[in-house]
Amino acid sequence: MQRLILHGGAGNIPESRFPEVERGLREALAAGQARLSHALDAVEAAIASMESSGIYDAGLGSVLNLYGRAEMDALLMTDDGRVGGVIGLPRTENPIRVARAVMESSPHVLLSGRGAERFARAMGFPPVKVRAPRRFQVYEELKARLVGKGTEAEGRRAYTPAWFEELRRLVEAHPELLHGTVGAVALDEKGRLAAGTSTGGITLKLEGRVSDSCLPGCGTHADRRLGVSCTGTGEVIVRHQLAQQVARRAEERGLALDRAAGSAVRSLPRGTAGLIALDRKGRYAWAHNTRNLAVGLLAPRGEPVVRVARAPTLRGATDRSSW
Ligand code: GLY
Repeated sequence: MQRLILHGGAGNIPESRFPEVERGLREALAAGQARLSHALDAVEAAIASMESSGIYDAGLGSVLNLYGRAEMDALLMTDDGRVGGVIGLPRTENPIRVARAVMESSPHVLLSGRGAERFARAMGFPPVKVRAPRRFQVYEELKARLVGKGTEAEGRRAYTPAWFEELRRLVEAHPELLHGTVGAVALDEKGRLAAGTSTGGITLKLEGRVSDSCLPGCGTHADRRLGVSCTGTGEVIVRHQLAQQVARRAEERGLALDRAAGSAVRSLPRGTAGLIALDRKGRYAWAHNTRNLAVGLLAPRGEPVVRVARAPTLRGATDRSSW
């Protein structure tokens, strides 16, 4: 049995962007399906496709931090306990590929910032400018409105407790600032499960801000029973260890995967998060308390299905749901 499910982010996705978001999901499904003889390869290929598309908040489409720079996070996990990830990686098209290199070619689990970049270059990943024009425009507009123009204003306001508080309120009040973290979970014929997530984070984030995506058990989880990838407000997802919550609810409470997904998402503040999940028996689930969640999956006969959900899915959904 082979399965692949992926997401292109939760939040408020303008309807005008649905065709582009769905096209990117379709391409990612095709890229993953071509590598589905190995779950880890499929997850990496699907996520790399979305990173390279520039459509989502990951890889080339990443949003920009307070200083107009992309700092990207990504993580891969497998059901046999392997983990690799990067935190705050700049100037790289496919952070998920670097995450895999950390897993397979370094003695570590996570590399961050300058060290992650040095590792990426040493492993042959070329430096790439990550500044999508659309992201730069949003960054400029938000910065002018919220921080003020020019380096003097930045210097005065950006690294003060008052700004930290303002940024916290901004993130809580404007989930639309989250533009589309990407993730995937796959199961291959040999019963291997893998999960991965990649993000550029939040526009105007402080330098060094770490998302949920690259934290095992928070934005990404895989074990022998299931895999999960989350999207939404990282600060909320980390506090609730959302991905791990799905696994616990399935295991300890014996909930079906869709119920475990829905119950975990319902425990979070509304408008903050979504997730996809896949278990060893090939069952899919997703849930979100945001208006939209972009989901793609391979139906049991292998045909691709993509959809941007238009309303919260709080009870959890499966591929058998009418959506
Ligand atoms: N969930 C992605 C982020 O908070 O950056």
